[in-house]
Formats: sequence, structure tokens, C-alpha cells
Amino acid sequence: MIYMSVTIGTPLQASAFKILLLGSGELGKEVVISLQRLGVEVHAADRYDHAPAMQVAHYSYTLNMADAEELKQLIEQVKPNLIIPEIEAIATQVLVDIEEQKIATVIPSAKAVNLTMNREGIRRLAAEELGLPTSAYRFADSIESFRAACDDIGYPNFVKPVMSSSGKGQSRVKSFDEVDAAWEYAQTGGRVNQGKVIVESQIDFDFEITLLTVRAKNAETGEIETQYCDPIGHRQDAGDYVESWQPQAMTAAALDESKRIAHKVTAALGGCGIFGVELFVKGDKVWFSEVSPRPHDTGLVTLASQFQSEFELHARAILGLPVNTTRHSVAASAVIYAGVDDRNLSFSGLNLALSNPDTDLRLFGKPEGFKRRRMGVATARAETTDQARELALHTATQVSVQQN
Ligand SMILES: Nc1ncnc2c1ncn2[C@@H]1O[C@H](COP(=O)(O)OP(=O)(O)O)[C@@H](O)[C@H]1O
Ligand SMILES: [Mg+2]
Repeated sequence: MIYMSVTIGTPLQASAFKILLLGSGELGKEVVISLQRLGVEVHAADRYDHAPAMQVAHYSYTLNMADAEELKQLIEQVKPNLIIPEIEAIATQVLVDIEEQKIATVIPSAKAVNLTMNREGIRRLAAEELGLPTSAYRFADSIESFRAACDDIGYPNFVKPVMSSSGKGQSRVKSFDEVDAAWEYAQTGGRVNQGKVIVESQIDFDFEITLLTVRAKNAETGEIETQYCDPIGHRQDAGDYVESWQPQAMTAAALDESKRIAHKVTAALGGCGIFGVELFVKGDKVWFSEVSPRPHDTGLVTLASQFQSEFELHARAILGLPVNTTRHSVAASAVIYAGVDDRNLSFSGLNLALSNPDTDLRLFGKPEGFKRRRMGVATARAETTDQARELALHTATQVSVQQN
């Protein structure tokens, strides 16, 4: 018998199939657009007004999603079929309860959201339960235990608050002299001031990749299957991605090992949707670094390279629909920063940026910029990844940001 997938009603009517997006950034904005195309009613929430995904949703809400009461109230009010956490700073216990009481489905699963919001949860799962190769690591929650952890792991090492993302509070510690400053810095960069950090040995990799991994139902059997996009190479600056390209060339053995790791960790997290599995590669050897149970920023390149971008893949997978991870082009993406701390910015030079027919742009529409805040992205297609990178970087620099 053919499996019957979800029935989608009419948005803004009683039959609507509703999705609540928690966190309304630029990645969520693209997910919303993909969902809108499939006739889903979208509710978008964030901590500030006019966040990118709010601008394309049917309804939007401004609240503190880390506050359990506020979050519970919103879910009761919206009564969504699915909840998509797009950021990590959420009262995740509420999501665990919602899933247990079968009030809504949490994407990809409350367990995945809960474990990945904290570096300790996902690292212990990957390394200790699943036996996946990772950097050596220690956790520390006081200056004394931190000094001991650094000495244990050696130098240089990487220090990260366990509750943090996008490089916040992270540092690379080169010697014992830098240990106390790294501790201080980590204390200011964590999402929740709970003080705990992970100390990781430095992996001396050739390159790092994101392996976008999709867990989606087979159209006929309804069984969840795992599919992979081609590996995405990327360059990080201070823990934040600045450019990415697809495909990243690698040995067949390293690709197989990457898929094995991605399969294991995503299967353990469960549910349907896309995962950004971050891996370090040296020759044939691969280390697991971290995983996002949602579209990944480096995956913005798939807007230009794949028949279904990571956002369309996610939208389809969470609705229980089949996906196609095929790449049609070699492409790259480059980030456009605000370069200033100001609100109400303007963007010009767009005609120059888009003068090459193989380029494209996304401007996210964020109401406020900071020097290092991502305001848009340029994508480019070319014959080789080197050419695509050059064109994407060139395209991004053609866009100039003005204050009003
Ligand atoms: N143990 C490590 N060895 C080498 N490089 C690392 C290590 N940990 C982090 N990095 C570098 O820092 C970047 C950000 O670290 P990551 O753990 O992915 O933090 P975030 O959650 O902020 O993305 C990585 O993409 C990599 O370039
Ligand atoms: Mg990362």
C-alpha cells in the first residue's frame, strides 16, 4: 500500500496546515518561502520585530523564546501542526513536553533540538555513545578546572562556551599565558551565563566541510531514508562563515567516512529534516565537529547549485514529502556584512553585482546592522569552485552598504 503523507489545507482558513517557526533569521526566511509555495500557513517568532522570516510569514510574534511561559502561551495560541526551532536559544524543555503530550511535532525531534543546543550534549552523544572520531575534549565550569583542562588537552586548543554559536565567546588558546583571558572571554560570549566551556584539541585539518544530510520519507513506503548533498567546503573567520562552495573535492574514502558519520549522528537525533553535519578532513581521515538539526549557513550556496536548495529540502522533508539532493552546478557563496553599527541601512551597486548572469543575491532585510552582522549573501555559478568563489566574492564586494 502507498503511504499517505500529510494533507495540506488552505492557509488563513480553518483547514490550514500550520507551522510555527521559532527564530526568524535569514535561513528561516528561505524555509518560510519554500513552505509558502506548498500552501502552508506560517507563523514566525523572534525576539525582535521585523526579523527576516517574519517579513514573509502570515503571522509574526515578538517574544523571549528562552522564557518557558511565554513560549508555552504562544504554542497554545497558534496550535501549530509542526514547530521548527531555527535558533538554539529556546526553552527546549517546553518542546520536550509539547512532543511528549503530542500537541505538535518538533522538527526534527525535541531530542535533537535539546542535545544540539548544548555542545556538551552533542559531543558526548557523538564521541561517547556513538564512538565517532572527534577532537580530544574536556569540560570545565570554573577557572581552576579550566586551567587543568587546558593543560590536559595541550596547546593550541579551542575554547567555546557550551551554550553559544557563531563563534561567540570562542578563542584559540596558544599557550598557558592566554588561558585566563580565554576564560574571561568565554564568560561574556555564552548565551546563558552558566559558565561551562568545552576545551578541544586543535585538529590539523586539510579543509572543513558541511555535509548536508536529509532524513526524508520514501514516497511509497513512508520509511525514513537518509540522503546527502555534495560536500560543501567553507572558510570560517573567527568562528563565522565568510564563504562556501560546492562541491568540495575529497577522496572517495573520506566521502564514505563522512557519510558514515553523518548517518550515525543524524539517525541518533531522529525525525525528518535537513542536518548540517560539520566535519574536519585530512586525507582519508574525518572528524565529527558539530551538527545543526536545521539548514546550515554555509548551505546558502545550494540556492545556486541544487535543484532543491537546503531550504526546499527541509520544507519537503518535514512535511513527509520526497526530496532530491541532486546538484546541477558548481557554485559558491560569499557573505555581505553591514560593516557599520546602524539601523535602516541601504544597499547599492546591485546592478554591478548582478551584471554577470551567473550571479545572484539575497538581501535579508534585517532592520539593524552591526559591523560583522550578515545582511546578505552573494552566490555565483562557474566551471570550477575556484572560479565560483572568486565570482561570489567579487559579487559580494560590489554591494555597498550605506547609512541613511
Ligand atoms: N577542535 C578544532 N580544531 C580546529 N579548528 C576548530 C576546532 N574547533 C573549531 N574550529 C574552527 O572554528 C570554527 C567554529 O567552531 P564551531 O565548533 O563550529 O563553532 P560554532 O558553533 O560557533 O560554529 C570551525 O568551523 C573551525 O574552523
Ligand atoms: Mg560550526
